[in-house]
Amino acid sequence: MPGVSLVGSGSACLTVQLTNDDLSQRVDTSDEWIAARTGIRQRHLAAATDSLSSLATEAARNALAMADLSAEEVDLILLATSTPDDLFGTACQVQAALGATRAVAFDLTAACSGFVFALVTAAQYIRTGVFKNVVVIGADVLSRWTDWDDRTTCVLFGDGAGAVVLRASERDRLLGFELCSDGSLNHCLNLAYQPETAPLVGDINVQMGTFSPITMNGREVYKFAVSRVPEVIEKALFRAGLTTADIDWMVLHQANQRILDAVADRLGVPSDRVVSNMARHGNTSAASIPLALDEAVRAGKIQPGDVIATAGFGAGLTWGAAIIQWR
Ligand code: ACO
Repeated sequence: MPGVSLVGSGSACLTVQLTNDDLSQRVDTSDEWIAARTGIRQRHLAAATDSLSSLATEAARNALAMADLSAEEVDLILLATSTPDDLFGTACQVQAALGATRAVAFDLTAACSGFVFALVTAAQYIRTGVFKNVVVIGADVLSRWTDWDDRTTCVLFGDGAGAVVLRASERDRLLGFELCSDGSLNHCLNLAYQPETAPLVGDINVQMGTFSPITMNGREVYKFAVSRVPEVIEKALFRAGLTTADIDWMVLHQANQRILDAVADRLGVPSDRVVSNMARHGNTSAASIPLALDEAVRAGKIQPGDVIATAGFGAGLTWGAAIIQWR
């Protein structure tokens, strides 16, 4: 059975920055409150000229360059996103922009767990011998769907895109994983379609409408994250035949610094082994793990052979962990 190697990472550079002080001009909040409760100091927003597909393409291009792989060699592009440019799917636009003419491309939606779910999905295609070279992208533009007058959510989110390249290899560097869903908690975090009944002909109506902005029960999601994330990482480690002592880096979904600290504390992972870019990016949903990974790789923190525990969690509710070895 072919193994899976992660051979490149990349991210998009967003130029618009929104600081906590900027936000305090819009809603009743402060830099002190946001920083103390979340660790966030600023976030990046997509510019008017950006689109989900342009950001995803930039991240993928940078990951391919690191992997020294041409777009024509890519077999599959998996785009994890909850904020597509097109509800029919955005991955094909990325495929065209990259010039990845041989690649199959499709979207996958699992909110902030999307990247981990897509990584594991991509690995199955490689392990079964179907595909050799896969680009996995996590990208979200949550600023499109944030209620900018709701201080309980608008301070949390930012836009971003990150990507990795997976290749078939002799040695398998996806060491273990575990994915979970619990739809009974769906009401805790939603970006839901709100239908509006419109008359069509006679007594037949159609449901027209739009998606309403993000709603979240922050306390419930917080409790869910600090209990489920350590558990799912331990399960993934067990499948890998490893323990927490083997973790070189934890690259978790960047939702809240307090969640990262609580998870590290429960697992006994020292805080200097926990990658955090929360202060600069906020919660970028599906982009947050590949973005944090890419920054840590390019900063020379993550080195070849390092064991990385990643875990995503969020709407669905969904959560999952993957233990990977870099390159
Ligand atoms: N500025 C100032 N005060 C605020 C703000 C704000 N931005 N937001 C809330 N408050 C107030 C509240 O109104 C409340 O006031 P009250 O005590 O008078 O009622 C007080 O601050 C405390 O509010 P809490 O909600 O209890 O604050 P908490 O410490 O729980 O922090 C937070 C809120 C940051 C949202 C936290 O619950 C959290 O991080 N939850 C998890 C979110 C998450 O991880 N989401 C991940 C998935 S995202 C996805 O899948 C798309």
